[in-house]
Amino acid sequence: PLTSPKEMFDKAYQDGYAIGAFNVNNMEIIQGIMKAGEAEQSPLILQVSAGARKYAGQNYIMKLMEAALKESDLPVVLHLDHGQNFEICRDVISDGFTSVMIDGSHLPFEENIALTKQVVECAHGQGVWVEAELGRLAGVEDEVSSAENVFTDPDEAVEFVERTGCDSLAIAIGTSHGAYKFKGEPTLDFDRLEQISSRLPGYPLVLHGASSVLPEFIDMANRYGGQVSDAKGVPEDFLRRAAKSGVCKINIDTDIRLAMTAVIRKFFHEKPQEFDPRKYLGPAREAVQEMVQHKIKNVLGSSGKI
Ligand code: G3H
Ligand code: 13P
Ligand code: ZN
Repeated sequence: PLTSPKEMFDKAYQDGYAIGAFNVNNMEIIQGIMKAGEAEQSPLILQVSAGARKYAGQNYIMKLMEAALKESDLPVVLHLDHGQNFEICRDVISDGFTSVMIDGSHLPFEENIALTKQVVECAHGQGVWVEAELGRLAGVEDEVSSAENVFTDPDEAVEFVERTGCDSLAIAIGTSHGAYKFKGEPTLDFDRLEQISSRLPGYPLVLHGASSVLPEFIDMANRYGGQVSDAKGVPEDFLRRAAKSGVCKINIDTDIRLAMTAVIRKFFHEKPQEFDPRKYLGPAREAVQEMVQHKIKNVLGSSGKI
């Protein structure tokens, strides 16, 4: 059933594991993730970006979710990823999302607070969870990626949570979106994470940009004509550690994209005569399932936690 993140996060926080929040854009992705969740008996968060709504269409997303939930008893959160304004949050709440992210991280502190508060007032009236973001995730090409000021300030985090009433907070400690997260050795600012979580005891934190960019798929993509050679993600051990330090939600999109693309590239290379989309979307869907299952079981630790 569609559920709120509340109970999921309470349990995850207590036991030091995390719930995977997987981005969905089409039927195969939703099916792959749901199958993985079923196999592992894991709670799931399916998240929809503005780009996903534009690509699939909000009506299609809702109907696909309805179908997924009809075939499963798993607790599933339907979450808006990176809501840019009040209106998009309000719209998905009226469609039945159980959780929204309002991303005011690009705004000055006071403006981020004002916007987040506005969404909290609307969402809480309907029992909907609100994730906000403080600090900025470095862009792929961002030269200031390691600059102190883009990371979340622990004092500000406490003030932000108190003043906005947001239910969970996405923080910046060195992760970034996409497949090129680190130029040299991967590092995350765990001291900062621990400072933030110790000042907000019991409070669920969120890690965006948390794909691991699995070498298996990078190699496969490159072997069959891809060009994603300098890709580097967040080591799995970092995610396990984060899950023990107050991070209850770990966002994964890039790993889904890479798994599907690698498998489809291989298929086209090996079977150039094939042109039935089911022949390559089927294996792509299986690759999503296997990858998500691996995350749930070996990294996030949410197997059997329903
Ligand atoms: O945070 C970004 C997610 O990977 C969603 O990406 O906006 O291209 O759908 P998207
Ligand atoms: P990745 O690009 O690391 O998968 O991050 C996804 C994300 O944070 C979605 O909000
Ligand atoms: Zn994100």
